Amino acid sequence: MNVIEKIKKLKTKLGSRVVIPAHHYQTSDIVALADFIGDSYKLAVDCSKKKSEFIVFCGVRFMAEGAEVLTGKNQKIILPDLSAGCPLADHINKRQMDEALNRIAKFTKNKIAPVVYMNSTSEVKEICGKFDGSVCTSSNAKKIVNYFLSQGRSVFFAPDYNLGINTAHELDLLQNEIIKVKKDFTFTMMDQSDSPKLFIWDGNCRVHKRFTMSDVEEFKRTYKKGKIIVHPECDEAIVNIADVSGSTAKIYTEIKNSPPDSIWCVGTEFHFVERIAKEFPDKTIVPLRNSICQNMAKITVENLYETLYNIDQFINGKSELKNQIKIDEVSQVNARRSLKKMIEIVEG
Ligand code: 13P
Ligand code: SF4
Repeated sequence: MNVIEKIKKLKTKLGSRVVIPAHHYQTSDIVALADFIGDSYKLAVDCSKKKSEFIVFCGVRFMAEGAEVLTGKNQKIILPDLSAGCPLADHINKRQMDEALNRIAKFTKNKIAPVVYMNSTSEVKEICGKFDGSVCTSSNAKKIVNYFLSQGRSVFFAPDYNLGINTAHELDLLQNEIIKVKKDFTFTMMDQSDSPKLFIWDGNCRVHKRFTMSDVEEFKRTYKKGKIIVHPECDEAIVNIADVSGSTAKIYTEIKNSPPDSIWCVGTEFHFVERIAKEFPDKTIVPLRNSICQNMAKITVENLYETLYNIDQFINGKSELKNQIKIDEVSQVNARRSLKKMIEIVEG
């Protein structure tokens, strides 16, 4: 029996006690074994509705932490490889978040609302909730930031600079209303303003930083009639020149709904592009560049099998439970507030 057959057999045995969510960036073999897939917003909301005792998260740590915060005390979130982190999430820690909020408060008379990207640690989400802010994902950053701006609050956006600046453009903010906050807490102003609206932390995702304007030019030279679709973690120049930008779910849906023979160049994680190219053979789908998220790729059919085997052993009292994501209850309170605030704003 090969590993895929062994996973299927264990899944049948464990039944509804186990559910397997997978992010769009997971490899095709994992996606085929998952119970549901999605972008980071959908996965958070779907996990919060599941009642299964074990949630085996095929994604990276911040996603599994989100599920831990949004699910019940009796539910256990397992990450098949605990080293599958997100370097972008590590661009800001709890201390830097606290310090940045303190310094910004001295810089503007407006009340500050922290908006932290889902790609952040639960500790950072905890501070966000404490300061009455909200989490956002790439699918709703515009709505969340606008929610606070329309209350007359200035927003501190962290940790992804690109998502922050691309959201600012979508909201038609002026250059002098935007301030970049560097990691040494120096502020870069495009222009002087009495009432800056958006302070953006200087973090980035190296997988999306790799795309360059020469990649865009090369695609345009090869495919005169092709369209470019990118994730908003890409640099602003790339997002500005693209035909469409959005979350992984938006990229998937846009391509799925496009006419046969459409030509797409996709600026995001390579395994995802590779999968949709296979799924829609009637369209030409090429990556802007082969940029792999090594952390997402740490989840494999081998460690997924080991995880399910371990759960089965644990249920039968033969082993300790391995690779569980645990966040203490006290810290969860404010992290949950910030995640629930996002869901409340999005779902209305
Ligand atoms: P999505 O929320 O669009 O799925 O993005 C998550 C991510 O990590 C992108 O790099
Ligand atoms: Fe994090 Fe970038 Fe990987 Fe997304 S692609 S999980 S932001 S490192």
